[in-house]
Amino acid sequence: MEQYALIFKGHSFGYEVQATAKIFIPSVRFILCENGEIPPNIENTILTEIIHENDTVVNVEIHLHGKFWKESKSISGAAAKNQLEFALCSLLYEGLQDLTGYTPPWGLLTGIRPVRKVIQAFDNGLTPEQAFQTLQHQYRISDKKMKLALETALIQKDILPHSPQEIGLYISIPFCPTRCNYCSFVSHSMDSAYQLIPEYVDKLCQEIAIFGRIIEKYHLLVQSVYIGGGTPTSVTAEQLDTIMQTISEHIDLGHAREYTVEAGRADTITKEKLQVIHDRKADRISVNPQTLQDSVLQAIGRRHTAQQVLDAFALAREMGFDNINMDLIAGLSTDTFEGFSDTLHKVMNLNPESITVHTLTVKRSADLYHSDEIRTQISEVEKMAELSANLLPHGGWMPYYLYRQKNTIGNLENVGYAKAGKENLYNILIMDETQTILGAGCGASTKIIDRDGDIHRVMNYKFPFEYISRFEQLMQKKIQIEEELEKL
Ligand SMILES: C[S@@+](CC[C@H](N)C(=O)[O-])C[C@H]1O[C@@H](n2cnc3c(N)ncnc32)[C@H](O)[C@@H]1O
Ligand code: SF4
Repeated sequence: MEQYALIFKGHSFGYEVQATAKIFIPSVRFILCENGEIPPNIENTILTEIIHENDTVVNVEIHLHGKFWKESKSISGAAAKNQLEFALCSLLYEGLQDLTGYTPPWGLLTGIRPVRKVIQAFDNGLTPEQAFQTLQHQYRISDKKMKLALETALIQKDILPHSPQEIGLYISIPFCPTRCNYCSFVSHSMDSAYQLIPEYVDKLCQEIAIFGRIIEKYHLLVQSVYIGGGTPTSVTAEQLDTIMQTISEHIDLGHAREYTVEAGRADTITKEKLQVIHDRKADRISVNPQTLQDSVLQAIGRRHTAQQVLDAFALAREMGFDNINMDLIAGLSTDTFEGFSDTLHKVMNLNPESITVHTLTVKRSADLYHSDEIRTQISEVEKMAELSANLLPHGGWMPYYLYRQKNTIGNLENVGYAKAGKENLYNILIMDETQTILGAGCGASTKIIDRDGDIHRVMNYKFPFEYISRFEQLMQKKIQIEEELEKL
């Protein structure tokens, strides 16, 4: 594999420079040279330099795959730190754009939360038009992406809660019947973890009960409940009932605006489980096709057919579910633009209340990134994302949450589209990071947002065996959670 060196001189913006370089060369482990020395025998080098003389000079020199680019900019007067950082990253962006011929749709915006930037601009008194102009100019974001971020922010700003006492609750059931081969989430296949489930359910219920006491003690108001995974419907109807009964017995849901069970995979959805979800008053479920092309479902190891998705959806509707989400992925192995378009149209015909369009997250080596194959793949996925952004609003599904994945091809986005009034608060909260979320179960994290907006995280153990065997230690962490909540 080719090596890439990042060389820094006269500044400490290593993190920002690296993030900018990764827009063009993702998933590469750079050799960081902070003393300004150019390592021997490395052909790909990126030098960023700040020279303080009468004026400040920002200098970038790039050797990439046999091509060379060099440019300097002078900044007169005393430049602030963030001004220097921005000047350096902008120049680097220009150089890499020139050398690779690639114009990233999100420009030089590296964060995973573009919508937050728009909401911050609103908080600073900018109108939507001003926010659009300012952010687009600053970060060189394409018209289409800027429009998407602005529309999403306008919907979110009326939904976001305002009091620190208002919280979300996440319950993790991290099991799946089998593992899909593209999946980037922590989940455990039933083959390996099946025997752990009864004890897992038992411990999870204990943790939920403890959270119930904490919620009561600190007068917290649960606004959203999300049972996610993995695939929560991997467990039996009885186990699901036990968990949901514990929630209703220990958590005051009087203030809840929504209650989701991410059913997910069609091969786990049964009438009995849907009945439990319905009886226990959850009002939103997911039935996720990812794709409705049988050959693609087979290629991604999903182990169910398109017909099973249609049947599960019809069953849920028949049983009265009137808030169903469907997840899709653009860019799945063997899928084509035509295949994705067909899936999207079929899903729209089903008329679910929300449709979430993910772009496939895959980490690729830097060498491949410049190849025609990857270029074609990015533009195919980009076209699929664009088709969704064009078609869904016409059918009444508007973008209400959006996030990007780091270090992935194209740095593209995942977007949740929903009919008016069916936006999922929890999905907004998880990205917005301005509201406390208590997380129960393995792999879950608790995020407490204090009055200054600072985030305090407490992580649960990642694996079911650890969660079960170290449960006592886990309970000790609740003290930390209580200490943070005291300060709210
Ligand atoms: C935590 S998964 C749970 C959903 C449920 N287990 C299912 O598979 O239907 C949430 C969603 O993340 C998306 N996802 C998982 N891995 C992904 C990847 N590598 N790239 C893009 N989206 C992915 C899928 O759309 C999936 O429905
Ligand atoms: S069922 Fe869902 S969570 Fe499980 S492996 Fe597949 S995509 Fe991942």
